Amino acid sequence: MTNIFLDTLKGKTTERPPVWFMRQAGRVLPSYLALKEKHTFWQLMKDPDLAAKVTLLPIDDLGVDAAILFSDILVIPYAMGMGLDFTDNGPVFEKPLIGVDEPLKRLNPDPEKLQYIYNAIDRILQTPGNTTPLIGFCGAPLTVMLFMIQGLGTRSNFTDAERFFFKEKELTRKMAEAVTELTIEYALQQVKYGVSAFQLFDTHAGNVPFAYYQEVFMPSVKKIADAVRATGTPFIFFPKGIGAGIQDINHDLCDFLSIDWQTSLFTARKLVDKNVGLQGNLDPRVLFADEKAILDELQNFIPFHQEESKWIFNLGHGLVPGIPVENVKLVVDFVKQGKW
Ligand code: CP3
Repeated sequence: MTNIFLDTLKGKTTERPPVWFMRQAGRVLPSYLALKEKHTFWQLMKDPDLAAKVTLLPIDDLGVDAAILFSDILVIPYAMGMGLDFTDNGPVFEKPLIGVDEPLKRLNPDPEKLQYIYNAIDRILQTPGNTTPLIGFCGAPLTVMLFMIQGLGTRSNFTDAERFFFKEKELTRKMAEAVTELTIEYALQQVKYGVSAFQLFDTHAGNVPFAYYQEVFMPSVKKIADAVRATGTPFIFFPKGIGAGIQDINHDLCDFLSIDWQTSLFTARKLVDKNVGLQGNLDPRVLFADEKAILDELQNFIPFHQEESKWIFNLGHGLVPGIPVENVKLVVDFVKQGKW
């Protein structure tokens, strides 16, 4: 069975770019919001039938070319023994590491605590009639550690955790190693259970200077990437906010690089190694505008595709709550029917 998303990842030329969206399941779909009335987020994740159902909603409701596993990046700290709740204000850890002596000793990785996710993958792949490729994912150590240390989900304020990175550089490195070890096992299990591509989310890569990122966190990213790619699974890296750091990213690290909305695809194409495909990068907030404004923005992607066929249409960050679902469908229809 050929699929436009997998073909593009493999470098084959296709008649149009494939399209999927970061956070396509859990933020804007009325079908998801209806399920959220009845179940908590943990229930949706932990019940394989519900997780499979939610994973596949965007295929039916939006018509995207790939599904992304319905889970969260914070399942890793949870599997390391950190109590975690998902509240209306975002994820909250029971005992953030900032207030803890010897934080490394607090972390007790238990790979069994990730089994419910593999059960969900099984269920997704066994769903009758489903042939859409499944993207596995996890968070990169920097972003996951910001949440572990800071503890609360206020989306942009990680002041204490960032200070910790500078005050406790050696400890930061050791913690990154511990997170990386479990992450690799987790990523490899996702591959074993059958995901056909993998994306590493580093949503807060821009929260530290690039030099610090390269020194302390890039070795972890490389290890995770190497482990996944050694299985032959295409690897997409999303280091949001990394800026001109993209010029140091090459095919040794990833197959595709997901570009945020700060950098234009044309600029990214000049900076990033030509062997690396690109993904992105419509600003999700454009989808709050009217139809004409959205279509005008979408037109700008046509000359880019004429220049570069190793490209997956996506957003520059995940869908934002409140975006009208019709506007998301408008994008899918444009990509699928547009004159590329
Ligand atoms: O389409 C999807 O939603 C796919 C599954 C998915 C979730 N989280 C589900 C989720 C994915 C790929 C993620 C990744 C994730 N989680 C990231 C990286 C991508 C990004 O958007 O930046 C980050 C930083 C997190 C951490 C996290 N989890 C935050 C900040 C929050 C708060 C609420 C929100 O929507 O961001 C969560 C909770 C969360 N993860 C929800 C969902 C559907 C909301 C739970 C709820 O409604 O109670």
